Amino acid sequence: MRFEIAKGGSGLTYDIRGIVPLANKIRSYGLEIIRENIGDPIEKGEHIPDWMKDIVVDIIRDDRSFAYSPTRGVDETREFLAGLVNSRGKTQISPDDIIFFNGLGDAIAHSYGSIQLDARVIMPQPTYSTHFMAEVLHASFPPSTYRMNPEKNWCPDVTEIEQQVKSHKSIVGILLINPDNPTGFVYPVETLKKVVQIAKEHDLFLMVDETYVNIVYNGQKTLPISDLIDGVPAISMKGISKEFPWPGSRCGWIEVYNADKDPAFGRLINTIYNQKMSEVCSTTLPQMSIPRIMTHPEYQNYLQERIRHYEKLSNIACDILKKVPYLTVNRTNGAFYMSAVFKENVLNSRQTMSIQHKDIRACIEKEVSAQIEDDKRFVYYLLGATGICVVPLTSFFTPLPGFRMTLLDKDETEYERIVKTIAEKIVEYVESAG
Ligand SMILES: Cc1ncc(COP(=O)(O)O)c(C=O)c1O
Repeated sequence: MRFEIAKGGSGLTYDIRGIVPLANKIRSYGLEIIRENIGDPIEKGEHIPDWMKDIVVDIIRDDRSFAYSPTRGVDETREFLAGLVNSRGKTQISPDDIIFFNGLGDAIAHSYGSIQLDARVIMPQPTYSTHFMAEVLHASFPPSTYRMNPEKNWCPDVTEIEQQVKSHKSIVGILLINPDNPTGFVYPVETLKKVVQIAKEHDLFLMVDETYVNIVYNGQKTLPISDLIDGVPAISMKGISKEFPWPGSRCGWIEVYNADKDPAFGRLINTIYNQKMSEVCSTTLPQMSIPRIMTHPEYQNYLQERIRHYEKLSNIACDILKKVPYLTVNRTNGAFYMSAVFKENVLNSRQTMSIQHKDIRACIEKEVSAQIEDDKRFVYYLLGATGICVVPLTSFFTPLPGFRMTLLDKDETEYERIVKTIAEKIVEYVESAG
């Protein structure tokens, strides 16, 4: 090329998928890979019920499902979703307060991409990578963060959020992920109310990722932010990837609350909408399916059955990993991930794990010879020794070393075996050079 043509990236990578080429290489040596890295229920054996498939088949017979849809999304679906919010009686929205995207990943990219360069959104640490990467990409500089505290069941300190907001005048919005990925923390209503209050006092908007808002268990309770927002401008992000579950549909949406209460916020929403308009619209067919699937008599039963399974797996993982003396572990109460943190000074770059297969051993030793985070080093060894593929916690933009696994395996006994193997391997690894 006459000159450099690739745009410089932020240097950040999406390690949830970044580990896949290494896993594939290891599989080519004959080791079965257990994919604990990605939050895709279908990949982990979820069987989509026939009634749901029948609805999709029925819709595909309608030629309209092959057409473009309005930029904001299919009218009937937005009316249906606005009705769900309005029927709770706390916040009223119109169908035009909803905009569909090709998955929430797309909604996240458009939302941050529409914010002015020097206006920032404070976010949790660790955080779901797509938010962090989109925020960094929009401003070319890491955002302010608040810490999710593993010593307090991952609950963040609301005072820290307020202090950060006070000392960084560039902060215009607060991101909450409820329930949270990667920690599985579920925000108590009182904490949500306090964050709403901070936003109100400091003239900020809230961005609340509610991908998992209907996947809560272990007796925990939370509320959608629309119930608590009390006049504060906010964006709620929702989708069907995890709830139906239909991640391959690439279908998610934002609900905008109180766009009329603040002109600057209203302009942000217009910018998001105009950007989307230049892409015409989002995937039509999955949008058409939403009202019919959500109102099907089996929908709630199916969702509840899955939630009970995640609850079981959250307890299996917690009970086994809690006994490992080198870890700090909290019971996951929502979504379908579990994050464990290595206690301070437990990991170093001399530790190893026995890997029988000599080519796999050579492959892992090559990977860990580079300067990498201590938890990534552990994750690579675990992969080479057992085929279990988890994600290093530092990949979620936190200094806390650890790993994230999922609660998605359909086979409880197999899941227990996987978690027990991880527990044994942690002990072997840490004690190889303590
Ligand atoms: C918190 C959170 N937000 C958004 C997404 C993106 O979902 P989608 O498949 O709709 O792009 C995910 C996916 O894992 C997620 O965990």
